[in-house]
Amino acid sequence: AEPLNIALAGLGTVGAGVVRLIETNAELIARRARRPIRISAVSARDRTKDRGVDLSGYRWLDDPADVAGQSDIDVVVEMVGGSDGPALALARKAIAGGKSFVTANKAMIAHHGLELAAAAEAAGVALKFEAAVAGGIPVIKGLSEGAAANAIERVYGILNGTCNYILSTMEDTGRDFADVLAEAQRLGYAEADPTFDVEGIDAAHKLAILAGIAFGTRLRFDAVETTGISGVMAADIAQARALGYVIRLIGTAEIDRRGAAPGLFQRVRPHLIHCDHPLASVDGATNAVVAEGNFMGRLLFQGAGAGEGPTASAVVADLIDIARGEKGAAFSMPSHELESLEPAQSGHR
Ligand code: HSE
Repeated sequence: AEPLNIALAGLGTVGAGVVRLIETNAELIARRARRPIRISAVSARDRTKDRGVDLSGYRWLDDPADVAGQSDIDVVVEMVGGSDGPALALARKAIAGGKSFVTANKAMIAHHGLELAAAAEAAGVALKFEAAVAGGIPVIKGLSEGAAANAIERVYGILNGTCNYILSTMEDTGRDFADVLAEAQRLGYAEADPTFDVEGIDAAHKLAILAGIAFGTRLRFDAVETTGISGVMAADIAQARALGYVIRLIGTAEIDRRGAAPGLFQRVRPHLIHCDHPLASVDGATNAVVAEGNFMGRLLFQGAGAGEGPTASAVVADLIDIARGEKGAAFSMPSHELESLEPAQSGHR
């Protein structure tokens, strides 16, 4: 069968992981995808950096923006990052040029997901972003396919691996915040700007995406009430522990039907979690997502929420779907009663 030709734009932690995964599992990927997945070009600004993988056998482009113009490429895999700027320009150009687009970029999807999904549908290509939410956990597939028959009333969970790593490590070892954050950066969990992690913005990006899929509503990142963990002190963690609780950064999205019209309530905040609750034992850079559906009941997805291998695994899963012929996106323009949903009033006051 004809190979699926892909180009990698951006070669940070995730990009190197994608190369390693495609090389290591080439045979089983080809079997499951029913055709080989071939890396036709790789691209990053700095050609000399040691990425721990041998890239000398691949066509190299110095400017990630150039991958959209390569006529032999079927899919652009964007791992540049940033909600606007080069990543968005690349997405628009690739999709308009008839290429499918796979991204790990939650900031861009949270801000521009609907526009890009509409463009992908119009162009007859796929827009896929499994890696954007909860790293290696197939939660986009879980919600948009596995739970597709259900009305979902609530989705919540631990959506930022860096914060979870910081909170659980501080709890276990008593080490201080800055020290544990530096370690999360070394391990490749944190965003380029770790403020996005510790201030809850990264979790808010992911929550807005999950809410759009779970409820079929317009993506409203601007309406997520966001508080991060920078105000959580070691003493808070110790005090919570003495009372039988742990502190976790939790994102919650639910339909609020108590007002005259339904609203979408989205927030990210540190929560006290009772030690007996399943989310209390979610440690390290793990993520967990709970979805409640009217026929399936409560689902709990749990697994590595960040890092090279897990995130690469989600990217390549999307590539396999595209190789099998998938088109479109996990969400489209809302067209039902919740379309005009307004953000619910803060905190159920
Ligand atoms: N910085 C993110 C996190 C990476 O810590 O969860 C995965 O999206």
